[in-house]
Amino acid sequence: MTIFPEMFEAPMSASIVGVARERGLLELHVHDLRDWTHDRHRTTDDAPYGGGPGMVMKPEPIFEAIEAIRPLSDDPGLVGFLTPAGRRLTQGLVENLSATQRLILVCGRYEGFDDRVLTLADFEVSIGDYVLTGGELPAMVLVDALTRHIPGVLGHEQSVWDETFQESLLEYPQYTRPAVYRGLEVPEVLRTGDHAKIAAWRREQSVRRTAQTRPDLLGGASLTDAEQRIADEEMLKSREQRGR
Ligand code: 6GU
Repeated sequence: MTIFPEMFEAPMSASIVGVARERGLLELHVHDLRDWTHDRHRTTDDAPYGGGPGMVMKPEPIFEAIEAIRPLSDDPGLVGFLTPAGRRLTQGLVENLSATQRLILVCGRYEGFDDRVLTLADFEVSIGDYVLTGGELPAMVLVDALTRHIPGVLGHEQSVWDETFQESLLEYPQYTRPAVYRGLEVPEVLRTGDHAKIAAWRREQSVRRTAQTRPDLLGGASLTDAEQRIADEEMLKSREQRGR
């Protein structure tokens, strides 16, 4: 539910999400909140009680839209609001939400919702600690992340268990042909065909990358003593670079 339904057209028609919809694995309906206004100007916002800058989304269109849409299926689903004041979206929350068959997502605009609409909410989510102009892009982020979990959406090639987050380590570097491009070489070990050596190299690269750019993730990873030493070494290097 949004006052900008057109924002959803291209992102929700392309690529894996688009194919999932075409194949009937994902059903997505975008509802224009203005369809539940009753004035000539189809007004969805109003000035805040108590004063202050900006506008607040009126409660009536949101209540009426949910009351109209919810009974269209036997499954009441869950109602989620996209708002910067919500709980941070994580892979864990995506996995929990992927167990539900139906979600009704409400996108906020302006300075926020009339707080009374939150009595309708089963959950509130934010996609990170930065401010966007509305909940539309976050809603699409959530739909995209959820679509990967719908059975049959990903080929066997692509694994649902996101390599990046399941192990709390960042992904190892990948390469494809040519073996040398503009003088930049694909690491020798990947061209040996020695699968044990390749797996060990990839694991070490994951540990190094994570220690370099996302040391906060290492708490959730189970590292061997040797891997922990590699991680410490990388974090020390990063610290030295920052000091310079
Ligand atoms: Cl859900 N809405 C807005 N307006 N800004 C955000 C957000 C949501 N998540 C992160 N920033």
